[in-house]
Amino acid sequence: MCGIVGFSGTREAAAVLIDGLRRLEYRGYDSAGIAVADGSAINMAKVKGYVKNLSELTHDGADIRGQIGVGHTRWATHGAPNDVNAHPHISSDGRFAVVHNGIIENYALLRQELTKKGYAFVSDTDTEVVAHLLEMYYDGDEKKAVMKAAARLEGSYSLGIICAGGRLFAVREQSPLILGLGVGENYFASDVAALVPHTKNVIYLDDGEFAELTPEAITVYDVRGRAIDKPVSKVAWDVEAAEKGGYEHFMLKEIMEQPACFKATVEPRIKNGRIEFENFDLSDQELRGIRRIVVTACGSAGYAGQVGRYVIEELCRIPVSVELASELRYRNPIIDSHTLLVVISQSGETADTIAALRECKARGARVLAIVNVVGSTIAKLADHVIYTWAGPEIAVATTKGYTTQVAVLDMLAIYLADRLGLMEKERYDALVDALHAMPGKLQRAIDLNRNIHKLAKRLCKYNDIYFIGRNLDYAVCMEGALKLKEISYIFAEAYAAGELKHGTIALVEQGSLVVSLACYEPLFDKTMSNIEEVKARGAEVLAVALEGNRKILSKADDVIFVPRTEPLFNPIAQIVPLQLFAYYVAKERGCDIDKPKNLAKSVTVE
Ligand code: G6P
Repeated sequence: MCGIVGFSGTREAAAVLIDGLRRLEYRGYDSAGIAVADGSAINMAKVKGYVKNLSELTHDGADIRGQIGVGHTRWATHGAPNDVNAHPHISSDGRFAVVHNGIIENYALLRQELTKKGYAFVSDTDTEVVAHLLEMYYDGDEKKAVMKAAARLEGSYSLGIICAGGRLFAVREQSPLILGLGVGENYFASDVAALVPHTKNVIYLDDGEFAELTPEAITVYDVRGRAIDKPVSKVAWDVEAAEKGGYEHFMLKEIMEQPACFKATVEPRIKNGRIEFENFDLSDQELRGIRRIVVTACGSAGYAGQVGRYVIEELCRIPVSVELASELRYRNPIIDSHTLLVVISQSGETADTIAALRECKARGARVLAIVNVVGSTIAKLADHVIYTWAGPEIAVATTKGYTTQVAVLDMLAIYLADRLGLMEKERYDALVDALHAMPGKLQRAIDLNRNIHKLAKRLCKYNDIYFIGRNLDYAVCMEGALKLKEISYIFAEAYAAGELKHGTIALVEQGSLVVSLACYEPLFDKTMSNIEEVKARGAEVLAVALEGNRKILSKADDVIFVPRTEPLFNPIAQIVPLQLFAYYVAKERGCDIDKPKNLAKSVTVE
C-alpha cells in the first residue's frame, strides 16, 4: 500500500524516480509525487491520479532538477486523494521532504503538539507530522533529526526523507523497504520491482533500522544510530519479469504464466520422486505433535487456504481451520504448541496477516509461511518458509500467486500424509505424477478457453452473479467470485450450493446469472439438482465442468470446460477460465483491469 522510491546519484533523479513509481503503481494510484534536491533547495511536483499524470506534469521529470530525490505513489488512508494530500510533504522551512508508506497511529497527538508550537499544517495526512517533526528536531545535524523524529512515531512506516542540502535517508518500521546498491548511484524502494532495472544487489532493511544513501555508499544504522553491517542479497529475477511483455495487461500476462510458475514452484521440490522442502522438515515426534492446522491469510491467499483445507483434511486427517487474519488477530485465538500455523501471503507484507502471525507465534504455534516475495516480513518472522516461485506479480488481482499457493498446499498435504504414514506408495507416486502433469493441464485449461471473451461479451451485462459449488468446487467459487468483483465491479458472491436454499435463493430470479462449478464428481448429481432449482427461478446458468462431461450440456445454458486432472488438483485448472472470464468481463465493461478502483495489491495497513 503506497509505493516509495529514493535515488542518490550524479544524473538527474526525476526520471529515475518516475520510472520507479510506474513499477510500484500496483501499490496505490490515488496520487503520485516526487521531491528532488539540487544542493540548495527541494523542487517538488505532485498530482492526483496516476503516475502518468505526474509524468505529463513534469515532462517526464525534465522540469524538476536535482540528482537526489524521493517519490511516492499513494493509496489514500488519511485525507482524500487530491493534489494537497499527495506526497511528498515538506517542512515549513523547506529543509525536509518526506514520503511515507504505512500509518502513523499517534499522528493526531503529534499534530496537536506541533500546531501548538506554531507549525502550520496544509494537508489532512498523517505523514505531514513527520516533516514538521524533522524541522523541530533539526539543530544542524540531519541524521540526528531523523532519529529523533522516528523515535516519536508509533505505527507502521517506511519513510524516504530528502534534505535540501542533498542528504537522503530511508527509515523502516513494520513496512517494507529495500535498498539497492548501484555503481555510482544508490536507490531504495518499497519493492524490488523498482530496483531491478538498476541493480540486483539489495539489502533488506529490518524494523527499527535506517540508512543514509549517497551516490557512492549506503550506510545502515540501528535504532541508536550505530552503523551496522547488513548482508547483500541477489534478486533472482530479471527486469522483463516485471514488464508486460507484449500483453495488454499484467493480469493477462500473469494468467498465461501460470503453467510455468506452477512448474517452477513444484518441480524443484520433487527429488527422485519424493517431495522435499528446503526449509520445512519436522522430526517424526514434532509431526505427531501437530493436533490441528490453522491457516491464516487475507483475500485470495485465504481462498487458496480454503482449497488447502479440503486437501489436507482429506489426505492427512488433521483438522484444518481457515481463519481471516483480520479476525484471528483480535479473537484471543485458541492456539498452542500443538498448532501448525500456515500463513499464506503473496507479498509477505499484509499487515493483518503479519499481526495474526505474531499473535499465534506468541502463543506457541509453529509457523510455516507460504510466501512469494523473498526477504519479506512474513518470510522473516516464520519458523519455516516455502516460497511460491511465481515471480513478480504486478496486477492487483492475483492469479499466479493464488495457483502457486494452492500448488504448495497440495504438496504440503501429500508430504504430511506420507510422513504420517497415511499414504500407500502407489497413491503417493500417482499424486506426484499428477503434480508433474499439472503444468500441461494448466496450459490445456487456457487453450480450451481461447474463446471465452465471446462468452464474457454476452454475459457482462449481468449485475448479480452467484457462484455455487460443493466441496472443492465451493472453495474455487470463492476465488472465482472475488476475481470477478474486484476487477469488473459486478456484485458476485460465492455460496455453498447446498446452502443456497437457506436464504440466498430468495434473490435468484430472471436476470440473475449463476455460475455453477460442477467438477467435484462425487457430488455432481447434487449440484445438478441445484442447477435445476436456480433455473426454475429464471436464472441463466454458466457451468464449469470437466472435459468430456456430456450430462452438463443439457442442464446449463453455457459450459466452460476444464481438463481432467487428479481430482484433488481440479481447483488449479478450474480457476484459470474463471480468471479469464473475469478479465474479459472487466475489459468489456471498460474497467482499469490492472488497477481496480479502491484496491491495492500490498495491503500494509489494517
Ligand atoms: C490484497 C490483494 C489480493 C490479495 C490480498 C492478500 O487484497 O488485492 O490479491 O490476495 O491482498 O495479499 P497477500 O500479499 O497477503 O497475499
